[in-house]
Amino acid sequence: MDDKKKVIFSGIQPSGELTIGNYLGAIKNWVKLQDQYDCFFCVVDLHAITVRQVPADLRRRTLELLAIYIAAGIDPDKNTLFIQSHVPAHSEAAWLLNCNSYMGELGRMTQYKDKSQKMGDSIIAGLFNYPVLMAADILLYNTDLVPVGKDQTQHLELARDIAQRFNNTYSPTFVIPEGYIPEEGAKIMSLQEPTKKMSKSDDNQNSFILLLDPPEVIRKKVSRAVTDGIGVVNYTDEQPGVKNLINIICAIKGLKPEEVLENYKGKGYAELKSDVAETLISELAPLQEKVKSILSDKTYLEDIYRKGADKANYIANKTLRKMQKKIGFIPR
Ligand code: TYM
Repeated sequence: MDDKKKVIFSGIQPSGELTIGNYLGAIKNWVKLQDQYDCFFCVVDLHAITVRQVPADLRRRTLELLAIYIAAGIDPDKNTLFIQSHVPAHSEAAWLLNCNSYMGELGRMTQYKDKSQKMGDSIIAGLFNYPVLMAADILLYNTDLVPVGKDQTQHLELARDIAQRFNNTYSPTFVIPEGYIPEEGAKIMSLQEPTKKMSKSDDNQNSFILLLDPPEVIRKKVSRAVTDGIGVVNYTDEQPGVKNLINIICAIKGLKPEEVLENYKGKGYAELKSDVAETLISELAPLQEKVKSILSDKTYLEDIYRKGADKANYIANKTLRKMQKKIGFIPR
């Protein structure tokens, strides 16, 4: 390992099937960045239980998510891939940071506000504290860069605030992390309500495309995507549905919106939709094949997450010990 490399940390919750939003907003960028950075990619199962999980499903999704990371091109020999609950320092550091965080700042998180509006008093306390656990994830590894989608920017800001506060209260302990938000894949929108984020927890199945959706399902969902009555392929906020479809092509092919628009002079939405579907299928079909084959070899996966946890535990514990010492706990 090159000690001079800067550190990346990111994670995804195994709380539902992954959408192309998770893939284009996060994983695809991890693949691009993995050679320049020392990367920690985590399956954040502690985060997933902020929503009630069926135990067998959680187990299946955790391994599936790890297989997806690898199938998408994250090299397990170059990067540290691990499961969050295998590194107890995350939970311990989260407690220490909770005692350095304010109710007010956590209550301002829009994701929490949205959820608490829906759930009222029976909202799980973990949903309120969740951004502090996310801060612990990031700060334990002296992370420089956090590649995430746009919806996580507020949580990232909070992680920076918490780190700065801890550094000021005690003494410099944490690196202050920066976000890395992609240009076109930063926020993939719902196919049914294109002013809303595409989300795996949406009730409407047609609003999202899952990473593991078969080709015929992808074609059907894209063909039903909501557009508008304008009928001309443009890239503007007045046509959010069309803009979203163009963004999907851009994020997959690494193109700028202007370059994609070139192909649609004099063409309509049907052509655009059919191209979006085929672009998605050619990107996802090979990945899906790889996921299947990786999942069929449980010992291979076990070997990866065990090795990953060994390395992650070593680094996370070092930071945790530093935190404990500064706070005033007796060293063991
Ligand atoms: P999660 O599991 O909701 O989402 C995982 C990643 O996918 C991105 N994402 C999207 N990007 C573009 N368009 C979308 N529609 C879309 N939906 C989701 C998210 O921005 C995220 O990058 N709290 C985090 C997980 C986490 C984490 C961390 C991330 C826990 N600890 C430490 C980074 C660092 C979450 O709930 O992501």
